[in-house]
Amino acid sequence: MKFWEKIFICTLIIFEIFFVPSSIYLISSSFKSNLQMEINSSISEQSRFCSSIQSNLAFLKIKRISSGYNDKFTKETINSMINSYLNNFRDEKIYLQILDEENKNVFNNFNTNLPETRPELNLSSGELKYIIRDVNKETYLFITTQINLEDNYYKFSYIKDVSKIYENRKYLLNVLFKLNIFVAIILAIVMIILSKFIVKPINKLIKSTEKIAEGNFGERVTVITSDEIGVLSRNFNSMADVIEDKIEELKKNSDDKQRFIDDLTHELRTPLTSIIGYADFLRTGQYDEETFLNSLTYICDEGKRLEKLSSKLMKLIMLRNEKFKMKSESIQKLLLEIERAMTPKLKSKNIKLKISADSVKNLNFLMDIDLMTILVTNLIDNALKASKDGDEIAFNIYKYEQASLIFEIKDNGMGIPSEDIQKVFEPFYMVDKSRERANNGAGIGLALCSEIVKIHNGEIHIDSEIGKGTTVRVKCYCEYN
Ligand SMILES: Nc1ncnc2c1ncn2[C@@H]1O[C@H](COP(=O)(O)OP(=O)(O)OP(=O)(O)O)[C@@H](O)[C@H]1O
Ligand SMILES: [Mg+2]
Repeated sequence: MKFWEKIFICTLIIFEIFFVPSSIYLISSSFKSNLQMEINSSISEQSRFCSSIQSNLAFLKIKRISSGYNDKFTKETINSMINSYLNNFRDEKIYLQILDEENKNVFNNFNTNLPETRPELNLSSGELKYIIRDVNKETYLFITTQINLEDNYYKFSYIKDVSKIYENRKYLLNVLFKLNIFVAIILAIVMIILSKFIVKPINKLIKSTEKIAEGNFGERVTVITSDEIGVLSRNFNSMADVIEDKIEELKKNSDDKQRFIDDLTHELRTPLTSIIGYADFLRTGQYDEETFLNSLTYICDEGKRLEKLSSKLMKLIMLRNEKFKMKSESIQKLLLEIERAMTPKLKSKNIKLKISADSVKNLNFLMDIDLMTILVTNLIDNALKASKDGDEIAFNIYKYEQASLIFEIKDNGMGIPSEDIQKVFEPFYMVDKSRERANNGAGIGLALCSEIVKIHNGEIHIDSEIGKGTTVRVKCYCEYN
């Protein structure tokens, strides 16, 4: 069953549960109160009649005494007196029946056959009984009491037609039945429209989830409501954003891996092709001594390049998979390591490395000193390769805010084109491949650097201008003590 059908059916059931019983209760309360009012007014009407008969008899008695008769009324006299008095009401719509002690009619203007057994007639003196019974398709209220007239007991019944009250109840129940059908139909129409309107955003959400399930991860729900469905739609959109980002990330990772493999294959094939080519040539034996030596030098250089490439690759793989524990190390020690590693290269190109680290030289920082040495030497190596003989490279270390160290390597070399600045961090990327290969570069140095920076919770940033030089700034989070 669909959600809108559930809303629709539940509303109808709730309506029927509350509307029908409460309406029936209202009608029956009104019926009971009307009937009770009718009974009360009939009782007082009946007592009024009894009193007027009794006072009429008393009046007659006084009249007879004043005329000189002092004997007691006979039963026949009383009967004829009642009859003549009540005959005045014969034409009115008042039904009265008076029975004597033998249950013989003294007066009766109720011209309808009454049942044989009438329990209301079994009563003692002063007692009042009433009963409601159907006679000839009409409903009548019988109020009976016993009165004493000159030591004779009479049963006085006041009869009232109460069919109207019953008909009224029947009429109201009939109206309720029709009203119920009418309101239920209207409610059904309104609820179909309303429930469809309520579930419209849910249907939108369903369509969007279906599209996403089909692989359309850019799909979003347009949120218009501010209710729970709106919140759900917003959460759904946020979830879709996260999924899309994750998928993008996975795709990027997979692309990066593929590019890495492609570049690696290429980087391996180039020196190997040369080595194989020269080795093949040497097998022919048709060469002079100089060619022989040049070929061997080339094979040796390319072999060294391959060795360097494999060692750098090993480092990169190790950095990506290992967990490092930071140790408190002094900047002084780091500088010594760097100088030891870089001095021969700097000397060979007659380049001066100007170090400025006075503010932090004697401080200890939490770091992996081997990784930091690799980081800085790679950056100095890049600056060195970009500089001309006799140039100067500036290396500054200073503190930044509470627990950050800045390493700054500044050269006045050839610079990096702005469109390549982000790409140089990708493995094997080189701005000018042939020139970098001639410099023994493999395009892995900066990829290594950015992994080391990540391990130290830092950031690496390059500012460069073609022909003017490059500044590489590394900010590492290393607490000091
Ligand atoms: N200071 C710099 N000045 C000019 N170009 C630079 C500088 N640093 C990096 N580059 C460019 O960025 C590229 C990538 O540098 P990266 O250090 O990753 O590789 P590489 O130095 O060529 O080789 P490797 O470091 O693996 O020996 C370089 O090939 C170079 O073109
Ligand atoms: Mg490098």
